Amino acid sequence: MSLETLEICAFIWLAIAIAVHVTMFFVTAPFGRHTSTNWGPMVNNKLGWVIMELPSLGIMVYFLFFGTYSFQSFVWILFACWIFHYLNRTFIYPFRIKATDKKMPLFIVLNAILFNCVNAGLNGYFLAELANPAVYGMDWITAPHFIVGATFFIVGLSINWKADHILINLRKPGETGYKIPKGFLFDYISSPNLFGEILEWSGFALMAWNLPALTFMVWTFANLVPRAKNHHDWYRSKFEDYPKRRKAVFPYIF
Ligand SMILES: NC(=O)c1ccc[n+]([C@@H]2O[C@H](COP(=O)([O-])OP(=O)(O)OC[C@H]3O[C@@H](n4cnc5c(N)ncnc54)[C@H](OP(=O)(O)O)[C@@H]3O)[C@@H](O)[C@H]2O)c1
Repeated sequence: MSLETLEICAFIWLAIAIAVHVTMFFVTAPFGRHTSTNWGPMVNNKLGWVIMELPSLGIMVYFLFFGTYSFQSFVWILFACWIFHYLNRTFIYPFRIKATDKKMPLFIVLNAILFNCVNAGLNGYFLAELANPAVYGMDWITAPHFIVGATFFIVGLSINWKADHILINLRKPGETGYKIPKGFLFDYISSPNLFGEILEWSGFALMAWNLPALTFMVWTFANLVPRAKNHHDWYRSKFEDYPKRRKAVFPYIF
């Protein structure tokens, strides 16, 4: 694939992200607390997470080890960040969430597979086959956008993991219900895990400074801001004593 073709694909994908973003404010993605049996066949929750996240991990591992330029510069750092995140999301997170009777629709799994294949495909192919290795040299890892982006990535990932850890541990063994999370960034927002993930991929886009990474950042925002709003509205409808000053995903803002 030429650079021009990849760029056209990325712009089309960006336009779809915007359409999905708007739609998701009206249609709640039916997994986790919002799961529903109205979306066709259902699959086990943990298995669903593994299957839907595996393509993103597998595609980036493939391009790292079999790509033309992956080890000809410091571009491997971007692969390492991506793979590090998705190792957790694919093989650690699903086995940490508490088992409940909940399942997720196969429809969600298939959509997520498409989302992951396109995002990892665009990013992996660009970095391994199209990016000029000279761009990812010593000047790159000392550039301000790399340093700020790497900081955002690390801070975002840490917030995402810590918030997921707190949420997962709200339930004692055998419990299946929901509680109001408190402490850490939960005093300001309902979904610090989603905020952390948005910060993380914004940092990645800053570091990488290319169109496919920007596309993935936009997709992450497009998916997670409406999801955080859905979580926030859900909390407020379920808990009368839900803290009034808490925002959905961006402290003091939204
Ligand atoms: N990159 C993307 O586009 C994308 C998209 C979606 C998710 N993600 C990531 O995937 C992870 C999960 O997302 P999510 O929206 O499914 O997270 P979530 O609703 O916050 O749930 C996280 C885990 O904690 C449990 N939990 C949440 N709130 C709870 C409460 N108040 N009381 C007791 N248990 C609670 C959930 O149980 P239940 O499952 O039983 O509700 C689930 O096991 C996040 O790290 C997110 O950033 C990324």
